[in-house]
This record gives sequence, C-alpha cells and structure tokens, in this order.
Amino acid sequence: MRGRSAGKRKSSRVENNMLGQRWPSPLFSGRSAMMHHIGVRNIIKNWGAFSALKDVNLDVREGEFLSILGPSGCGKSTLLRIIAGLEEPSGGEIFIAGQNVTLDPVWKRKIGFVFQNFALWPHLTVFRNVSMGLELRKTEKAELYNRVMEALRMVQLEALADRLPAQLSGGQQQRVALARAIVLKPAVLLLDEPLSALDKNLRQDMQVELKALQQTLGLTTIFVTHDQEEALSLSDRVVVMNKGVIEQLGTPDAIYNQPVSEYVAGFVGEACFFEGRIEGNGQAKTLRLSDGTAVPIRGNGIQVGQSAVAFVRPEWIDLNKLDISLSPGSPQGTIERLMFFGQSSDYLVRLGDRQLRVKYKSDGPRLAPGDTVALCCVARVLPGNGAAS
Ligand SMILES: Nc1ncnc2c1ncn2[C@@H]1O[C@H](COP(=O)(O)OP(=O)(O)O)[C@@H](O)[C@H]1O
Ligand SMILES: [Mg+2]
Repeated sequence: MRGRSAGKRKSSRVENNMLGQRWPSPLFSGRSAMMHHIGVRNIIKNWGAFSALKDVNLDVREGEFLSILGPSGCGKSTLLRIIAGLEEPSGGEIFIAGQNVTLDPVWKRKIGFVFQNFALWPHLTVFRNVSMGLELRKTEKAELYNRVMEALRMVQLEALADRLPAQLSGGQQQRVALARAIVLKPAVLLLDEPLSALDKNLRQDMQVELKALQQTLGLTTIFVTHDQEEALSLSDRVVVMNKGVIEQLGTPDAIYNQPVSEYVAGFVGEACFFEGRIEGNGQAKTLRLSDGTAVPIRGNGIQVGQSAVAFVRPEWIDLNKLDISLSPGSPQGTIERLMFFGQSSDYLVRLGDRQLRVKYKSDGPRLAPGDTVALCCVARVLPGNGAAS
C-alpha cells in the first residue's frame, strides 16, 4: 500500500519535518507530477569470463523506496552504478522517467548518488561540498546560496555550513553527502550502503531521517544494503539478489513470510529448514521427516506424496516440555542455552545434528538447559517440489 500511495505524492503535499519546518518549500516544489520511474531491461555485465549481472529486469515505481539486498559480491553496486551511468552495461537498457538513458552520461540522468564512504572533499567546507555540483552547472549565485542552505536545512546542518568534513561526526558527514545529492533536485536517489559505516544507534537515527526526507521529497529511491533488517524496515519493496540474478522482488512482508527459495528464506531472516514427504488429507497436512516425526505445514498448492522443503522462523515456534506436549509426533529437541538480548531472549535448541533458535515467549513454559522439548509450529513449504509459488 505504501508503494501505491507514494505515486500520488505531489509537490503540493506539505509536511513538517523534524524541525517543525514546512516542506516542501518553493525551491523544491517545481518537479512535475510526471511518472519518474526506473526501468532496468535485460541488463548484463561481464568482466572477462565473469558474469556479474545476468539478465536483470526491474521496475521501480515513482516515489518508491526500493532496497536491493544481498550478500557482498552479488552485484548490487554494479547494478546501481549502471543505473547511475557510472558503469557501462555489457548488454541491456536503462530507462528513467520513460526515457532510454543507456547511452547518456551521468550528469544527464537527473540522479543523486550517495556512497558508503561519503566521498566528501576534505579540503572544502560543508557548504562548498554541497554547492560544488551547482557551481559546475554555473548556477546563479543567489540561487546557489538559497539551494545549498535549503538542502543543509533539510539534513539539519545549516549551522555547520562553514566546517570542514574532518570537524564533523560520521553521521553529520553522511548528511552532507545526502545534502550534496538532493541539492541538484534529482528525480532519482541512488544510495549504495550509505549507512554501513555508522555505528548502530546512529544508523537507526539516520534510517528514520533518510526515510522522512525521501518521503517528503517524494524521491524514487534505490537503496543498496546487505543488512536485512534495514531493507525490511525502510522499503516499500525489496529485491533479493544472488550471484548476479534477482531471486525475489516483493514487499518486506512477502519477502520475509513467503520467500520463494531456501536462499531468500535463509538470507532475509533466521530460518530452520525441514525436508520430508507431504502427508495428510483435507486441510491438515504434515511433513514427515526422516526420523519419523512430523511437522504441520502450510503453503500454496501443497500436494500429498511430494517431497518438499519447509521452513520456520524463530518466532513461529512454541516449545512444550515433553511431558505436557499435546503433539507426541512432533520433533523433539533439547534446550542448550538461553540467550539474553535485553529486550528479548532466544532459546538455542539442539535438534539432532543442528541447532535452532526459538524466540523466548514470556507466557510460555520456563525452560532450562537440559530440558527436553517438543517443537510446535506450522512450517511454510517453499515453492518447488510440493508447493506452488
Ligand atoms: N571493475 C571490476 N572488475 C572486475 N570484477 C569486478 C569489478 N567490479 C566488481 N567486480 C566483481 O563483480 C561482482 C559484483 O560486485 P559488486 O557489484 O561490487 O557486489 P556487491 O555490491 O553486491 O558487493 C564481484 O564478484 C566483484 O568482484
Ligand atoms: Mg557494493
């Protein structure tokens, strides 16, 4: 829903930012209501025999916050740099706002780009770091000043305009990088792991600020990250990449709860997998495991008799002490540890040759290391053998 409503964000929309100022100001309200979206068509990137991107296709909606999530080396930066025009594709086309920009240089593409390492000019003040792009465009002096100060205000740095980057904290430096990108009034904001260099608390603050700024300006945004929580919490939709291909594109909810593969299920959150054969009749289906126990399952188009892989998340599992368990046929494990995290705790449970994580539930039974428990959960069958996608 968030993705759909984002497209309706027009320049007339007025909001208060965290400083109580009203946005957008006249300086940033001139953008047309035209569809600014990004189209990635059959993009291929080869370095010699190595194939970094293998026929990638993607549509980003106007005003959408889309994350590209995947492990290091899967091709996230390469894809972003190709969209920006910083890298040439070996094949395929890029469209921005309906225009084929594949052959256009970076400066023609109306994009703002923010890198992980900020890439500020160390010898220039905050003001000059932000104004440089406008200076290169020969922007008239008064307009340049107004636009730079406005961009700095948006990232709450107007008071620090005369400082050098070295006199700023990491979070402030990243805000300068953000101001430098938005001062050019881009139609599209491309962010390559912009928060990875920040420590956890600051990163969380910056996530909130970034999202607020993106929504206020209605910027179509692609955000590259290897941090699944960051991708799930910020995005309208998430792309999960694996070795140069898109494995899944969906809402955070769909990616987390209905992954299309073991890879996505395992990368996007913690998952415990079960392999077995589907049994049952009517609504109640189970997966019969090789040790003879069975796990209740759900999923689309599950077929009895098929072998299948199903998964559970730590918070889907209830643990019952064996003597009071109501499901005698369910898998059994032994509590190995209670992990305390402050706001939550997990049990680590030994299940045959593997260990799985189960969320501690305050209304559940109190368990101690050594207790034998039955696992009560409904596992979701992955598409493929035994289920439709
Ligand atoms: N200039 C280059 N020359 C050769 N290989 C490269 C180059 N840039 C990236 N690669 C390779 O392409 C793959 C994808 O890289 P990258 O897009 O940077 O991954 P990610 O951003 O997901 O970590 C990696 O295996 C990387 O080593
Ligand atoms: Mg990268």
